Amino acid sequence: MSQGHDRVWWKEATFYQIYPASFKDSNGDGWGDLPGILEKIAYIASLGVDAVWLSPMFDSPQVDMGYDISDYEKVYAPYGTVEDVEALIKACHAHGMKLILDLVVNHTSSQHAWFRESRSSKSNPKRDWYFWRPARYDEAGNRRPPTNWRSYFAGSTWTWDEETQEYYLHLYDESQPDLNWENEDCRRAIYDSAMRFWLDKGIDGFRVDTVNKYSKYVDFSDAPITEPGSDVQPAAQFWCNGPRIHEFIREMNGEVLSKYSTFDGLPVVTVGELSMTPEPGGVLCYVSAKAKQLDMVFQFDITHLGQGPPGSDNKYAGTAWKLPQLKRIVEKWQTFIEGTDGWTTVFCENHDNGRSVSRYGSDVPEWREKSAKMLAVCFAAQTGTLFLYQGQEIGMVNAPREWEIEEYKDVESQNYWKEAVRLSEDGTDPTRRERIMRGLQLMARDHARLPFQWNSTANGGFSNGRPWMRAHDLYREINVEVQEQDTNSVLSFWKLLLRLRKDHKDVFVYGAFELLDADNLNTFMYKKQYREKTALVAANFTEEQQPLPEVGDLKLLLSSYPESSQERLHPYEGRIYINY
Ligand code: GLC
Ligand code: CA
Repeated sequence: MSQGHDRVWWKEATFYQIYPASFKDSNGDGWGDLPGILEKIAYIASLGVDAVWLSPMFDSPQVDMGYDISDYEKVYAPYGTVEDVEALIKACHAHGMKLILDLVVNHTSSQHAWFRESRSSKSNPKRDWYFWRPARYDEAGNRRPPTNWRSYFAGSTWTWDEETQEYYLHLYDESQPDLNWENEDCRRAIYDSAMRFWLDKGIDGFRVDTVNKYSKYVDFSDAPITEPGSDVQPAAQFWCNGPRIHEFIREMNGEVLSKYSTFDGLPVVTVGELSMTPEPGGVLCYVSAKAKQLDMVFQFDITHLGQGPPGSDNKYAGTAWKLPQLKRIVEKWQTFIEGTDGWTTVFCENHDNGRSVSRYGSDVPEWREKSAKMLAVCFAAQTGTLFLYQGQEIGMVNAPREWEIEEYKDVESQNYWKEAVRLSEDGTDPTRRERIMRGLQLMARDHARLPFQWNSTANGGFSNGRPWMRAHDLYREINVEVQEQDTNSVLSFWKLLLRLRKDHKDVFVYGAFELLDADNLNTFMYKKQYREKTALVAANFTEEQQPLPEVGDLKLLLSSYPESSQERLHPYEGRIYINY
């Protein structure tokens, strides 16, 4: 039973993710920055969150928005300085919040000094810190990469280096070469530069990027052809959850993380990004407390709803899904911790996905606020550690559909788009361009990266200058200032929910989950149980009224409608009943 779970601070904490480029620009250069975040610390604390996860603010050429790091020990100058991060650590702690940073150590930027050395010659001592392999040649004598693997952002995982006449491996963009964790010196350097440097400054843990990809099958063989007609093939089985992955993460934990504590003397926390691991057993081996690897992970079944298989050329193809699928996913990850010593996370947004209102609710004017609150109910009552992404608390929605592809800045969006144009124009797949555009309009990573909407002034108050990404057309309607004055706003509702989640943390954070009426296409209902305490959650995912659940002697704790009816659930209404 989940009531058996040890109580630890990070299980009960709500984390708030900040994407530094888009949060608050303090100096008008169009980029969010650390002084901007510092200005808004009181706002963040006012939400009732307990910890902040800051996406990468390290020095970087920003090909992949800071997930391509050129120096772990420096801050990207437009964001500020190392001293600004130290000030942020202090400010978070002064407000009773912890701060975690992103740990991006599957790869560096190709501009990182380690890679520059590595690529400088075959005999450089750091040559082996990355994966270098000779070319293959086909019968006609054409040069071919060492394997046929498809990279995340389209194209091959291998890029040819003219200078030293070898290919290097990159699971992501060619500017993001993969570090070779097989090399012990390389691992030690990662621990010192990317981890101890910041832990020594007082951070409280890490969100660990692409955590299950450090270990590859290094015999580098070809993936089977599952996408005929393409010269690159999905190949995750060769580089995801590889043979030494648990050993590496255990070492990182044992040698580094376990030696540190938070500012208030508690264990530091890790939350890993665990993609492409759909089986509970495959997740548990990372997060079982006994395994001493990670505290918890993000698992991505939810964000994959409506997408083609991850790692395929079809991510943005856009497929239909139905509510029971979402419910079964939630059930799987709510219940997999029962009777185990593992832990789970709860989230539906981050910087890599479209906005939840647009994807799982409705972003038309009539329903966007209602569905934002309904989703809030649905997620905030779940067991596990809750993560909130900036803007989710005010119900920010996807970029308008009319926006042209030029407004999409993400390297992944742009690469998919270029590929689609090429395949449409050369006749391989004439309608691909339109299909990919529709997929991007719903699911592109760009939607989460639009400037944060603070108020009704130009650019939503994000910046006095020209923002690096266009501000949403709706910033006058959806913004913090308006919602702070309205006790019925999405923002006020999130604050209330987070307070109730704390007041009843036994049942909300630690309770056992039971899915009700699994096949119902319209409503999502579940029960939570902690000893004698019961909570019942009912969420209407449609624009029509729906029947209420059987509530017995439970009392209404809250509804997302100011006036909730006795008989029916309103359109996009969410409710919680409880027996306290
Ligand atoms: C993770 C990040 C994503 C980034 C990728 C490569 O998936 O969340 O934004 O592009 O890693 O570092
Ligand atoms: Ca700035």
